Amino acid sequence: MNETIELLKSHRSIRKFKGERLDQATLDELVRAGQAAATSSFLQACTVIQVEDPARREELAQCAGGQAYVADAAAFLVFCADMKRHRLCCDMHGAQMQSGFTEQFITATADCALFAQNVAVAAESMGLGIVFIGGLRNRIDRVAELLELPELVYPVFGLCLGYPDQNPEVKPRLPLEVILKKDRYDDSQDCERIRDYDEQVRQYYRSRTGGNKDMSWSEQISGMLIKEARPHMLAFLQQQGFLKR
Ligand SMILES: Cc1cc2nc3c(=O)[nH]c(=O)nc-3n(C[C@H](O)[C@H](O)[C@H](O)COP(=O)(O)O)c2cc1C
Repeated sequence: MNETIELLKSHRSIRKFKGERLDQATLDELVRAGQAAATSSFLQACTVIQVEDPARREELAQCAGGQAYVADAAAFLVFCADMKRHRLCCDMHGAQMQSGFTEQFITATADCALFAQNVAVAAESMGLGIVFIGGLRNRIDRVAELLELPELVYPVFGLCLGYPDQNPEVKPRLPLEVILKKDRYDDSQDCERIRDYDEQVRQYYRSRTGGNKDMSWSEQISGMLIKEARPHMLAFLQQQGFLKR
């Protein structure tokens, strides 16, 4: 259709990087591209922490469940939802900020996601590869400690960037009919459509792993969703001053 759409549709996560580094000017430009994303109520509620220190990187890789590329990637960024500078704005005007609202949590988290996706696409447009790292939330308390995050700041996810040392296939997405509904929510045919998609995903995994992984999408999802999902998150977020009301 056009180059931008082609770029978006050619995305695949990269988990193996060449040793080549990324210069700071390039990284700064990628972060500026992130800042250009739309931001709820002009809050600009995302702070990015570029983690350079190898010891910190190694520990973050462990926090994420031993994902080696967190330590190996040319750059590693942690996207933090941040309402702290907004309290500063209120202080500057002698006003008392009302914090802890779920609404603020949603807007700050959405800001981070939009910001980070801009960074990811900008990086991919330069031939870099990326992978998001939600695994940081396995040990989010330790991540917050390592990065010295104050109240009203929480790490949403990380992002590895670097020159790709692998060339994986694009992972097939759900059929459009499942995710694009017209006028009302009609999922009457989703089961059948998901069954077709399941076969596509099974083929994708077989081809990616030389036949070693034989799993459909619905199988993968049901296997995951019978387990608890990081149940420590609510208490952590409340401790950071989010989700209190
Ligand atoms: C918020 C977020 C967190 C993610 N966390 C991880 C992660 O910790 N480790 C990892 O290897 N991939 C992670 N991923 C990558 C997804 O597994 C990947 O995007 C998905 O399987 C689709 O594959 P694709 O990106 O190659 O199209 C994450 C993606 C997102 C959006």
